[in-house]
Amino acid sequence: MTRHPSSRARLTLISLHDLSLPPTFAADFVTALIGAFEREKGQAIGHSTRVTLLAHLIGQEMRLPQETQKELFFASLLHDIGGISTAGHIWKRLTEVPDIFGQKTDFRIFFHSARGYAVLSRFPTLRKIAEVVYTHHEFYDGSGFPQGLKGDDIPLLARIIRIADTTDIILRLHEIQNGEEIKSFLDISAGEEFDPQSYERFVSLLGRPDTLPLLLDENLVRERFREICLSMTDQYYFSASDSLNRFFEMAAMLIDNVTTVGKQHSLRVAEFAEQIALSLKLEQSLILQMRWAALLHDIGKVTSNRMIYTKSEKLSDIEWRAIRAHPEKGYETLNAVSGLQEIAFYVLHHHENYDGSGYPEGLSGEKIPLASRILRVADAFEAMTSERIYHRKRDWQMALRELRENAGKQFDPRIVDITVDAYQIR
Ligand SMILES: [Fe+2]
Ligand SMILES: [Fe+2]
Ligand SMILES: [Fe+2]
Repeated sequence: MTRHPSSRARLTLISLHDLSLPPTFAADFVTALIGAFEREKGQAIGHSTRVTLLAHLIGQEMRLPQETQKELFFASLLHDIGGISTAGHIWKRLTEVPDIFGQKTDFRIFFHSARGYAVLSRFPTLRKIAEVVYTHHEFYDGSGFPQGLKGDDIPLLARIIRIADTTDIILRLHEIQNGEEIKSFLDISAGEEFDPQSYERFVSLLGRPDTLPLLLDENLVRERFREICLSMTDQYYFSASDSLNRFFEMAAMLIDNVTTVGKQHSLRVAEFAEQIALSLKLEQSLILQMRWAALLHDIGKVTSNRMIYTKSEKLSDIEWRAIRAHPEKGYETLNAVSGLQEIAFYVLHHHENYDGSGYPEGLSGEKIPLASRILRVADAFEAMTSERIYHRKRDWQMALRELRENAGKQFDPRIVDITVDAYQIR
C-alpha cells in the first residue's frame, strides 16, 4: 500500500488569511451548523439561537468583557449539541419532563450535557466552552445535574445559560403577554435553579419596555442575532494549530452521530479522499478544500428526517426522494457561509456519476468538479469497507474490484486507478 504522509501537518502552516475567510467565519459557521441540526419537519426550531440572544443580553447587563461575551456566544449556540439525535431535539423532551427529579432519571436528558462535552472537549480551542456546556443544567442550590455542583462552583457562563434556557422554554410553552408573567414562571424555581446575580440582572432587563417585544418577534430575534454575529469578529478564534481543521472534524462527528449511528463515516471518507488527492499530487489548497468537503459532505442529511438514514426496513418513494435531496440541502447550508462556497459546490455534486446517471444535475465526465469525483469514490469505498446495515464488511480486495467494475460508470476511471494503486495490498 503506497501511503502518503498525511497532509495535515502541512495544512497547519496555511494561515487563515490565505484562505480568505471573513472575520465572522467562526460565528457564521456555528450558526449554520446549529441551524441545520435544529430543524424539525422542515421548520427551524431556533432554540439555541434564542438562548444565545438572551444570554448575550444578560452578559451585556453584567458588562462582561468582549472576550467573555464571545465564549458565552459559542457556548450558548452549542449548549444542546449533545441533545440532538435521530430522535429529535432535547428541548421537547425537557418540556415533557419538567421537574428536575424526572430529568435526572431520564437517560437522554441526563446525559445530553456530558455528550456535548465529550465532543467539544476534544478540540483544544473549545475546551473552555465544553466546560460550560457540561454544566449548563447545574442548579445554584446543588440540585441540578450531572454533577450536582453548587453556587459559584458552576461556571458563570453556565449560570447565565441556565436562566436563558429556561426562559426560552417558558416562551415556547406559554402565551406570554408581559415581563411579569415570565418572572412569575421563573420564580417557581428561582431559589433552587438560578444564580441570584444572573436572576437579578435578567429581571431588570425584563422590566425594560424594549426587551419583551424583542423576545416575542421572530424577525426581531433574527435581526438582533445577526447583529450579534457580526460583532463576533475574530479571525483567530481558530488560530490554535490545526484548529479549523479539527473544528470541521467535530462537525463531521456530529453529522455521523445522527446519520450513521456510531460509525465514523465522514471522518473515514475524509481520510480516503485526502489520500487520493495526495496521490493525484493536487495543489495543497485544493487538498485542504477536498478534506473539508469530505468532512461536511453529508451535512444535508442532518436537515431532513434523520430516521431514514438508519432505517433497516424498505424505504418509501418519498423517503428515497428525501435521501436524494441531501446534496442540495448540504449545498444550501454551506453556501450560506461566506468562505465555504467552493466546498458547497463540491458537496452539491458528490453523487454525480461519471457516466451522467447520478444526481442532482446528471453531470458527466470532466463536467463534474474533480473534488466531487474524488468524493464519489472515497464515499463509496468507505461504505464498502465499513460495516453498514445493508451488508457485511467486505473484503478490502473485493471493494477495490467493485470500484474497478464501476470505473467509467459511477466513477472516474483515473481516480479508480489511483485508489486501487494506493490501497492495493501487495
Ligand atoms: Fe440542555
Ligand atoms: Fe437548551
Ligand atoms: Fe452523500
